[in-house]
Amino acid sequence: MSILDKHAILEKNASLLFLGSLVVVTIGGIVEIVPLFYLENTIEKVEGMRPYAPLELAGRDIYIREGCYVCHSQMIRPFRDEVERYGHYSLAAESMYDHPFQWGSKRTGPDLARVGDRYSNEWHVQHLSDPRSVVPESIMPGYAFLKETPLKITNVSMMLQANRTVTVPYTDAMIAEAEADLKAQADPNADTTGLLERYPKAKVGDFDGDPAKLTEMDALVAYLQMLGTLVDFSTYDDATGYR
Ligand code: HEC
Repeated sequence: MSILDKHAILEKNASLLFLGSLVVVTIGGIVEIVPLFYLENTIEKVEGMRPYAPLELAGRDIYIREGCYVCHSQMIRPFRDEVERYGHYSLAAESMYDHPFQWGSKRTGPDLARVGDRYSNEWHVQHLSDPRSVVPESIMPGYAFLKETPLKITNVSMMLQANRTVTVPYTDAMIAEAEADLKAQADPNADTTGLLERYPKAKVGDFDGDPAKLTEMDALVAYLQMLGTLVDFSTYDDATGYR
């Protein structure tokens, strides 16, 4: 029996063909996936990445709730046009504390992975409240109500605790101080020494333009201003991961 005849047996028997395909796909899957669990450098280590501060985390929840990811990706691909427009391509480590991750695949608006520090807080508040007042041709919806909606702060420690359950390394101190840290980050008069020790590089101050109120706008802008600003690229080398 020639090899072609043998193959004809497979081709004429749907169940056998299905079984055969399953075996082949399984082998392929194992070969690709299993090494990822053992490779130390699946996520290369970088300087500066830290868990999100409570206010940033609250802002991230609002980002997800409002479906910002439907129009915005957070993933700069390693292509010249993207790197020239958005900055250094995204590293796996930059989304290691994202549960769920926000890479996205649809860009109705620009990628936001490095939007932090690109605009002032005032610009963000104005843009989120009424996008067409700053970008006349924008098709982004307005989110002015965020400025009027007080930020719910009843479950901050639980929020961190839940992230710790899925391996984000929040310490006991971070969880204990969560509510205080959240308030301090948005209060221009607060003592932020502890906050900055726990969350280096956190932007502090009033975000929404109204220091008297802690709103969802404060949280969302704090989150946006942090995006892409944590990794220290002065200690990062494209070829080796380290300098
Ligand atoms: C219907 C699609 C859509 C949704 C939903 C949306 N955006 Fe946008 N966004 C856009 C478009 C289009 C632009 C580009 C024009 C502009 O700047 O307004 C943009 C621009 C931006 C920019 C400026 C980016 C830059 O580099 O200039 C930011 C920041 C932003 N959006 C944040 C958000 C946030 C936060 C949310 C959720 C609260 C959101 N967007 C929801 C479409 C959207």
